[in-house]
Amino acid sequence: MGTPRNPFKPTAGARPPLLVGRDEIREDFAESIENGAGAPGLLSIYSGARGIGETVMLGEIEDEAIHHGWIVISETATEGLVRRIYSAIRKHKAELLDGPAGRRITGVKLGPLEVAAELAPTEDIHWRTILTELLQKLDENGTGLLITVDEIHGIDRGELAEIATVVQHMIREELPIGMAFAGLPKAVEDLLNEGVTTFLRRAEKYDLNTAPIQEVANAFRETFGDSGVEAGEEKIQQLAEATGGYPFLIQLVGYYVWSQASKSNYVVTDEALAAGLEKARRRMGTTVVQSAYQSLSDIDRSYILAMAEDNGPSRTSVVAQRLGVSQVYGGQYRLRLLAQGIIKTVAHGYVDFAVPTLREFLREQPAYNAVLHDPLPEN
Ligand SMILES: Nc1ncnc2c1ncn2[C@@H]1O[C@H](COP(=O)(O)OP(=O)(O)OP(=O)(O)O)[C@@H](O)[C@H]1O
Ligand SMILES: [Mg+2]
Repeated sequence: MGTPRNPFKPTAGARPPLLVGRDEIREDFAESIENGAGAPGLLSIYSGARGIGETVMLGEIEDEAIHHGWIVISETATEGLVRRIYSAIRKHKAELLDGPAGRRITGVKLGPLEVAAELAPTEDIHWRTILTELLQKLDENGTGLLITVDEIHGIDRGELAEIATVVQHMIREELPIGMAFAGLPKAVEDLLNEGVTTFLRRAEKYDLNTAPIQEVANAFRETFGDSGVEAGEEKIQQLAEATGGYPFLIQLVGYYVWSQASKSNYVVTDEALAAGLEKARRRMGTTVVQSAYQSLSDIDRSYILAMAEDNGPSRTSVVAQRLGVSQVYGGQYRLRLLAQGIIKTVAHGYVDFAVPTLREFLREQPAYNAVLHDPLPEN
């Protein structure tokens, strides 16, 4: 056996060595694929806080689709989305229906350049026509097409409306098409409320959450074991708890503790554990947490800075008081932060941070002290 390699993947979008806590969702999707056209899970939306694993979730269902022989078009909602989807559909259709055999029947022998030239004029045919042909062919073969769109917060409403119209039509025709979206809760909520796309309201909605600690422990036990690192049961439990079940932290903790252990004979010692956890937390602060913070308006930042004064969940009425605003006004900040996956409601009237280590990060911000030193309102 060569030198063991670190199996953890603490990078946005990178597939983890073990997918924790998502079995049920994946099975739901597999079942929908098996049931084919019209199954509810074939139109689904995954949403969750930053770093909770939306992108990875899309990758998982793509795998499931491919496993069932489906074609997958994997996209991100940036400008030109419809064009890119259309061109992918055209390419697949050309491969499947107008393959070399089909052309030879016409008696024309084409070189590669002419093939390209021949395909180009289809531009003016609406993509719905091409898509219908592709799906009919896939249907005959007992398969289908899955289109995934990540980061729907960036989606152009016009493009979404166009996709919705076409896909809805395919669903009505009982053709085997699946469509899955992923994005921050805010984007999803906005989309559903806007009414551009009533068809999205019929989608299966999955709120991705933190994974159960016990499942994290199981994943750590298996991953450390398989990669040649020895970790006692007590250490496994400690590590699992330190992640809070938050997927990005599962990878960071795994990665840095594994790396430390590799320097002490591939054993997770007390020192390796402490040093690894410290590195993981620091890294969390400079990646997910920082980018989440930077994406917020000053007003939204002031709300979470005020929350950071508490050691646990914050009472919303107290936060409003600290900010010197009415509860109604404070409620508006709160809704925005909830929608962006930064905070979560934990009990009636209480909120807490949705991203681990955010509290510690906020306490280190210069603005935190500025808020603290402002005189608090009297009542
Ligand atoms: N179910 C899971 N179990 C273990 N690790 C996971 C799981 N889901 C995601 N991860 C890990 O978490 C990290 C973040 O995953 P991903 O990029 O999918 O998150 P995201 O929610 O799309 O993030 P962002 O909001 O920044 O787009 C990656 O390192 C990935 O390997
Ligand atoms: Mg993502």
